[in-house]
Amino acid sequence: MDVPRDAGVREAREVPRPVPAAGGRPVVEKGPRLYEGKAKIVYATDSESLVIQEFKDDATAFDGKKKGTIEGKGYYNAQISAACFEYLQRAAAIPTHYVGLRSDREMVCKRLRMLPVEVVVRNVAAGSLARRLGLEEGTDLGTVVLETYYKNDDLGDPLINRFHIRALGLASDEVMDRAEDLALSVNQILAPFFRDRGLLLVDFKLEFGHPWRPAGDGAAPVHPDDAGAVVLGDEISPDTCRFWDLNTRERLDKDRFRRDLGNVEEAYREVWRRVTGGR
Ligand SMILES: Nc1ncnc2c1ncn2[C@@H]1O[C@H](COP(=O)(O)OP(=O)(O)O)[C@@H](O)[C@H]1O
Ligand SMILES: [Mg+2]
Repeated sequence: MDVPRDAGVREAREVPRPVPAAGGRPVVEKGPRLYEGKAKIVYATDSESLVIQEFKDDATAFDGKKKGTIEGKGYYNAQISAACFEYLQRAAAIPTHYVGLRSDREMVCKRLRMLPVEVVVRNVAAGSLARRLGLEEGTDLGTVVLETYYKNDDLGDPLINRFHIRALGLASDEVMDRAEDLALSVNQILAPFFRDRGLLLVDFKLEFGHPWRPAGDGAAPVHPDDAGAVVLGDEISPDTCRFWDLNTRERLDKDRFRRDLGNVEEAYREVWRRVTGGR
């Protein structure tokens, strides 16, 4: 993959080049299904430390109360995520779970023990933040805003702060410091990456985890508090990011589905086209 040599935190001046998906496809055998979520199915593989994420066309919103299908979403999200993870790894050495694409919709990843905390980074007011703070959607926040949410479907993923994380024992301060540092770095890398492709990165949600160490492999077990071993997992896609067209401010993300704005597939396809060059 070809990444501009000076890409990264500094804003790239060159004509944007698409980031192609992984060249060589990793060869792993698909094992039993470990977990089926709303947007993906996670499978074990013949390697204990690798999983396959299979991206589905299923779409949900409002804690699963709204359900539907977005034709081609699984494909677009797998390809967009792969391009973002590759770019983060190569341009900025962000540790991610991404290993490679096994097929159009299947991503081979390092198996992680996920933190039950989602980290949200916001550049522009939208969605729940706009409602909560009484800001008009589209207001430039003038500073980055970072939030944490408890990943718990039964509770509807409530907003939490560091005190709640400590009280619930969800992660150590060291681990949260590291996850938040990584999330802010991801914003610094990806905001210009998307801007170069005509997309405003309004906000996004990240999930982190610790690398899986198979029992009895002789390796030292990863202590849950090991801040050195925090890895970016899950996906980076129009399901988990808000993307607005830089010029028209048209929404090109899951808000089209949430708010019945129409042209949902077209929006995912357009983000895919701009990020991957349509290949
Ligand atoms: N590398 C990984 N190893 C293990 N689990 C992962 C990894 N990356 C993401 N996950 C988890 O797999 C699930 C992905 O499926 P998804 O459909 O997005 O689930 P959800 O409905 O919980 O959002 C999530 O719960 C996510 O935390
Ligand atoms: Mg998810």
